[in-house]
Amino acid sequence: MRMRLDKFLSAQGLSRKQARAAIASGQVLVNGEVQGDPGFILDPISAQVLFQGRALGYRRHMHLMLHKPAGLLTATTDARQKTVMDLLPEELKRRALGPVGRLDKDVTGLLLLTDDGQLAHRLISPKWTVEKVYLARVEGALDATDIQAFQAGIALSDFTARPARLEILEPDLGRLTITEGKFHQVKRMFAARGKPVLRLHRESVGGVSLDSALECGKFRPLTAEEEGALYALVRMER
Ligand code: URA
Repeated sequence: MRMRLDKFLSAQGLSRKQARAAIASGQVLVNGEVQGDPGFILDPISAQVLFQGRALGYRRHMHLMLHKPAGLLTATTDARQKTVMDLLPEELKRRALGPVGRLDKDVTGLLLLTDDGQLAHRLISPKWTVEKVYLARVEGALDATDIQAFQAGIALSDFTARPARLEILEPDLGRLTITEGKFHQVKRMFAARGKPVLRLHRESVGGVSLDSALECGKFRPLTAEEEGALYALVRMER
């Protein structure tokens, strides 16, 4: 892919005029050198562009992390109920962003949103064994037999869950890592042990953890590192 430097800067949110002024005043470095030509051609994916010392990246796609509150549906639209998309401002609603997998209405925590359909598809496909980590507050007390049962693969009515890792944090609080995401899977797994889930919260997906500074109901773009880690995990080029 090839692109003019001034167009690249506009794609980062500067007006054409601001972009040209920034370039003319020597505030833009491309691959370590001041670049004064607005028509300079670069590869927006691989070029390192610094503006006032800050790295800029041309994003073909947009990816957000959302701290999902309870009470919202994981869907792009719904005729009657509020969805997670209602948390986004209008300009982002217009982008073709969609949730990566689903969290039940009562479940809180990390929900990724992306406009890269292939990335979303791979992250939820069982084929790519992407780890999802949940904190579950349960009724009853967890013990070593639960760890073993999850590790062996819990048999549910319609399928046997893949081996899962349970860490007991408190007698009624467990951290469960699974690599698939069937409907109500975590709740069904704990229910099968006679310890129904009272509260469920997702901590991470594919090694990307919910930012502890992100308040419930808020979102932020993924960092370049987080984005890179997810693409690498499912063997995709950015
Ligand atoms: N497992 C569940 O039971 N619910 C979710 O929302 C996610 C995983």
